[in-house]
Amino acid sequence: MVSKRTEELLTLDRRYLIHGFGVVGDEELGPIIERAEGIRCWDTEGNAYFDAASQQTSNTLGHGQKDIIDAICQQVRKLQFAHLLAKQSNVPIIEYARDLAQVSPPGLKHFFFNNGGTEAVETSFKLARLYWWKQDKSKYKIISLQNAFHGVGLGSVPATRVGSGTFWTGFAPLAPGFIQAPHFYCNRCPFHLKYPSCDILCAHYVEETIRAEGADSVAACIVEPVLGAAGNIAPPPEYFSIVRQICTDHDVFLIGDEIQTGFGRTGKLWAQEHWNVKWDLMTIAKAINGCYLPFGATLVSDRIFEGLKGTMLWHGFTQHGNPVSAAAAKAALKLIIRDKLVENAEKVGNYVLERLNGEFKALPNVSNISGQGLMLGIELVRNKTAGTPFDAAIMSKWQRELLSKGLYVRLAQARNYSRIRFNPPIITTREEADEMLDILYPAIAGFK
Ligand SMILES: Cc1ncc(COP(=O)(O)O)c(C=O)c1O
Repeated sequence: MVSKRTEELLTLDRRYLIHGFGVVGDEELGPIIERAEGIRCWDTEGNAYFDAASQQTSNTLGHGQKDIIDAICQQVRKLQFAHLLAKQSNVPIIEYARDLAQVSPPGLKHFFFNNGGTEAVETSFKLARLYWWKQDKSKYKIISLQNAFHGVGLGSVPATRVGSGTFWTGFAPLAPGFIQAPHFYCNRCPFHLKYPSCDILCAHYVEETIRAEGADSVAACIVEPVLGAAGNIAPPPEYFSIVRQICTDHDVFLIGDEIQTGFGRTGKLWAQEHWNVKWDLMTIAKAINGCYLPFGATLVSDRIFEGLKGTMLWHGFTQHGNPVSAAAAKAALKLIIRDKLVENAEKVGNYVLERLNGEFKALPNVSNISGQGLMLGIELVRNKTAGTPFDAAIMSKWQRELLSKGLYVRLAQARNYSRIRFNPPIITTREEADEMLDILYPAIAGFK
């Protein structure tokens, strides 16, 4: 039973709203979030939840950050909107670009601003293609990994391959020119090999894929440094140096999709620092301003920027470079540095990983623990020896039960495995992590 007010809101929701990643017309909805503070949310019934999913890895900096809220309010009063199309610019976006350039990876100092992740990814594809077009080359194909998530637009969803094409269902025909290479999840190795004797075949297979397509037709390869939607899966340590070399050898751009990993989530400001790998293009969103407002960016290498100089860019969005989103991002970056949130993600992430490996791993239904920083995942199985996954409906019921105990986690439901994703805001303290893990442990231990 819920209160009259919640029932009324649910009725309105059922009547008017269409939920992304949900069943159209679903009758079983909720919770309805009413307010939030730090890493907790409260629903209209007054129930509190720890948000171990950071609202889709988006509320990375936690709720109620005064400095970001103040920056937004001040900017709205001064200049609420001025676009960035053609020759016009605005002060906050220039100032934010200056600040971002201080911390963005070496060689990635040119920025195209967007309203979120999908736009950032699609912009990266278009800039890569435009560059090759300018060079009189017909390199247009995009390689992505199986199990990757890169957005849901008609120009990005063909690169998204979570599950068995879940995000493609019903949207055919998809844009041509998108190819998938094998993923790097060792526990479900696509080649049924074991690390390290596999010799990192998944990475080398990127070269096979480029060769099979013809390097003269491949524009770029896009990668999530840690597979997010697929369940917070870190690559084998050698993976990215191999893929980087392959892309360099074949003159294929390597796009780092750091939309989830960027701004400290993995315990480094940029995930690329873990393997000392360089992207040619990089996409960021989500933590860029903690999703206080829609925002994102595509970071462009000097080579691509120089190669594109003089080219008319028939690409842009009305709201790209929104000054209020930029002011929020400026405040967010200051906060990340001032409060040492990257270091916190590393410290608390290592602590959580220790507890997961020390306590959770031995549970009969835990088959794998992996991830990086505060982007961790646990694979659950019905039978550890056979590796039999739980089916989606059972996992979803378990998730709702966990919510009623005060912990919100996201699940990754792939074709042959289910994972729990543990990625709370990077402001999470060790004590808060303990509180969340103390709810999670008995819920996993009792799950059959
Ligand atoms: C790695 C990655 N790329 C792209 C996207 C798409 O971003 P958005 O939902 O902001 O369009 C997401 C969203 O979750 C993501 O995780």
